[in-house]
Amino acid sequence: MDLHILDHRLRVTSICKNGLVNFTHPLIKLIFLRNRARCKFFSLTETPENYTVVLDEEGFKELQPSEHLLVESSVWLPLNVVSNGNSSSSSQAVGVTKIAKSVIAPLAQQHVSVFMLSTYQTDFILVREKDLAVVINTLEEEFNIYREVGGEYSAVLSQHVHNGFQKNGKEAPQLTVHPLLIPQNQFCVMSLDPDTLPAIATTLIDVLFYSNSPKEGALPSQDLDCIKFFSFSLIDGYVSLVMDTEAQRQFPADLLFTSSSRELWRMVRIGGQPLGFDECGIVAQISQPLADNNISAYYISTFSFDHALVSKPLAADVTGTGTQLYTTEHG
Ligand code: ARG
Repeated sequence: MDLHILDHRLRVTSICKNGLVNFTHPLIKLIFLRNRARCKFFSLTETPENYTVVLDEEGFKELQPSEHLLVESSVWLPLNVVSNGNSSSSSQAVGVTKIAKSVIAPLAQQHVSVFMLSTYQTDFILVREKDLAVVINTLEEEFNIYREVGGEYSAVLSQHVHNGFQKNGKEAPQLTVHPLLIPQNQFCVMSLDPDTLPAIATTLIDVLFYSNSPKEGALPSQDLDCIKFFSFSLIDGYVSLVMDTEAQRQFPADLLFTSSSRELWRMVRIGGQPLGFDECGIVAQISQPLADNNISAYYISTFSFDHALVSKPLAADVTGTGTQLYTTEHG
């Protein structure tokens, strides 16, 4: 298996709900005017708390400093696992489940904090740039590691001989068990030909920027068991969208596509208090039991909380035993 360290230096930011009006101009540029904004990695996720924006340095330049914008202080690098076809794994699972044992668990073991971003196309594992040496040393046994520089990939050789890297023993990091929330709405993970973005522009603008203003004739949403969650990303030319079935109905059915059989996913939101960025092992804690049971899951970290999307036919098992499944593991 190959692991790519992609050529993007990312910032993780959040825009507060009532500060969004100050950012619509740059966000519209980043979403719709790909040729003007030189941003190659852009992701925007609306949650009840805020808007999480993850973007490269070119994109970050578009966001003016403001009291409405919080910026995590580190630079994050996206990692990406590329299976080169001869994988021995027989697992049919997709998403974070596929990389739980090979990437997520070993990084947690070495106390490396990650930030996950699953998309329709792939799963990005963001790590802090300053942790890169530890990451390489941790994953080089399992992977051929390549670093992308200006579109070219070159093999990365470990430096552990030089910098005295010591792998942690088997002691597990101290794990906090975070409360889980399982909202009622169902989600789909979709994509779209980026050339057809103009065709969904008005819907996307409506959903992203006006979702909180009631529509003419619409009943105010009474459903407290549903969670607001909408994610759009445009990364290296690929579009990915995660939305609930209610938002999906607003889009023209013929432009968005999803993988097999219009799959629906249930969400497990992780965290009661904002999770911060330093704690490690949260993704590992959730993805391990899913991997043990070969349950597919996407995983999206946002500024405040983490979100796992679990395949719906199996969600009954997970939601039935979910809290147990996750908490008994560690105590
Ligand atoms: N750092 C956590 C981990 O290594 C995941 C991210 C949680 N933080 C957040 N703001 N979503 O498992």
